[in-house]
Amino acid sequence: MTPAPSRRPLWRTSTLQRLRPLLFVLCLVPALRWLWLAWQAQLTANPQEFLIRSSGLWALIILLVTLGITPARRLLKQPALLVWRRMLGLFSFFYTLLHMAGWALWERGLSVTAMGQDMMQRPFILIGTVATAALLPLAITSTNGWIKRLGKGWKQLHQLIYPAALLSIWHFWLVRSGKNDYMDPIVYGLILAVLLLSRWQRGNTRRKKNLP
Ligand code: HEM
Repeated sequence: MTPAPSRRPLWRTSTLQRLRPLLFVLCLVPALRWLWLAWQAQLTANPQEFLIRSSGLWALIILLVTLGITPARRLLKQPALLVWRRMLGLFSFFYTLLHMAGWALWERGLSVTAMGQDMMQRPFILIGTVATAALLPLAITSTNGWIKRLGKGWKQLHQLIYPAALLSIWHFWLVRSGKNDYMDPIVYGLILAVLLLSRWQRGNTRRKKNLP
């Protein structure tokens, strides 16, 4: 009996590498939209709040897409998708930085004391800060030089993305619980739960097969 033909990857690594500039522009679309809205003086009645909230949401969306790359590679049998992961992760961090900078500048007037007080007074700020602190080493060590230097430790360090994502959902939940609006955090939380389950199941299968 002839074995069933294995599904050939649709995209080659080189193709997806060539498409990276397109992904770059796509990830910039939210920021370009804000610039356009600012130019048109249409950044809502409260532009600062709009920008803080919108950047937080995009940071979370892109973080979840980054986490989705690994299961998508396996599910779609398209290993080349990996070449997009680093850029997506860095864009999530870029929007996190904008989000944090918006809060620091517009809500706390760049005063370190006021920022510290806010962290002590509003738990969601503290949780967002811890999530950002967990994402920082991932962004710093995302270069080829760091990947080489850290060897096996790089993969271990980058597991931090999971607690960072959980903290981000918690942060989101706390923000919206103040407004009695739980729907979005539940939907995003469920997406993260599916991604974590797929990761856990994969880990289990590899352990059973004694794979590294
Ligand atoms: C230093 C770190 C952070 C600070 C100071 C911070 C601060 C804030 C503030 C002030 C708001 C608006 C709350 C309101 O409208 O009442 C907010 C909302 C939000 N933040 Fe953060 N945040 C941080 C980190 C993060 C991170 C790491 C993520 C996700 C990757 C994130 C995602 C969100 C989301 C999704 C919202 C809600 C947006 C909405 O309601 O539509 N934040 N954050």
